[in-house]
Amino acid sequence: MSSKVIIFDTTLRDGEQALQASLSVKEKLQIALSLEKCGIDIIEVGFPISSPGDFKSVQTISKKIKNSKICSLARCVEKDIEVAGDAMSSSDFFRIHIFLATSTLHMESKLRKNFNEIIDMSVSSVKKALRYTDDVEFSCEDASRTTMDNLCRIVEKLIKSGVKTINIPDTVGYAIPNELSNIIKNLFERVPNIHKSIISVHCHNDLGMAVGNSISAIQAGARQIEGTINGMGERAGNTALEEIIMAIKVREDILGVSTNIVHKEIYRTSQIISQICNMPIPANKAIVGSNAFSHSSGIHQDGVLKNRKNYEIMEPNTIGVKEVKLNLTSRSGRAAVKYYMDKMGYKDHDYDIDELYSAFLKLADKKGQVFDYDLEALAFFSKKQE
Ligand code: KIV
Ligand code: ZN
Repeated sequence: MSSKVIIFDTTLRDGEQALQASLSVKEKLQIALSLEKCGIDIIEVGFPISSPGDFKSVQTISKKIKNSKICSLARCVEKDIEVAGDAMSSSDFFRIHIFLATSTLHMESKLRKNFNEIIDMSVSSVKKALRYTDDVEFSCEDASRTTMDNLCRIVEKLIKSGVKTINIPDTVGYAIPNELSNIIKNLFERVPNIHKSIISVHCHNDLGMAVGNSISAIQAGARQIEGTINGMGERAGNTALEEIIMAIKVREDILGVSTNIVHKEIYRTSQIISQICNMPIPANKAIVGSNAFSHSSGIHQDGVLKNRKNYEIMEPNTIGVKEVKLNLTSRSGRAAVKYYMDKMGYKDHDYDIDELYSAFLKLADKKGQVFDYDLEALAFFSKKQE
């Protein structure tokens, strides 16, 4: 089995569905260019049948993106597939992503179809999509609530009909990690020729488990992960790609897989997308939050100054964050105060550290956060006597 995990980004499709206002063609192109620079393997750029604006975005992006594969979504509807193929026709290589629900709940109460009809619609849609490209992905929508027998049956048919990537979405974020990994393991054990296709997962975050579920799927053999930057997406969002990518990198010892991502571009890409989409990143968000590499308590600050590995499992620079931040608050110790004084060019003999530290604590109690320029003012009054 390949040790590469394909990273499939759906910020411009599933992610955009979560925004109050849709993005303009120019904004979508800007996002696509930053994803390409970040080394994303596949960019799902839209659902071209959904609106003329979306069609135009897909068409424009298809002309400009050369290093990532472009993909568009289509239902099992002839017109959807035709429009998706047309929108991407100027791209040298592209993917059509078709989806249809396979759970009993969705079949009965949404589609009003039986499972044989679902299989027929799926297989005939794959045939239509193969007229436009040899790269067809199929998503069994609501796969995590589909019976294992039905899932195995449809996956077998899809592989026979030429689908290269089979996606197993946890559409409503209902699965828990060992449940999703059992689904993937079962597919590998029960479906003939399963190795002819790449197994992908697409996890939603309704129970906060999208990244954990995706990791357990990788351990069970999935080799494509779908998600969005900053985890934006329907309801509670999708797998946050920056988190899964860094988990793969930091825990390569256990996972034994890697990606094609240019890690140094992660922070910049996350910032660009947050700004364009007007979706602020929570301070404590893993990897890209403003506190992800800042240390507050005195014990942690002292530990980091002695050896960063004491409290950092990855170097901020790996994802393009320039420097580690020590927050100066009343929880900070002398080590952090001295660190900032050294940074500003002060020598030990320029000030009395005990005096400066007690003045700093008084100010921090009043002000909350203290900045280096505050320290400079305090240092003026803490000069060592000649
Ligand atoms: O969540 C989902 O099931 C989807 C499919 C279209 C892949 O977004
Ligand atoms: Zn989704």
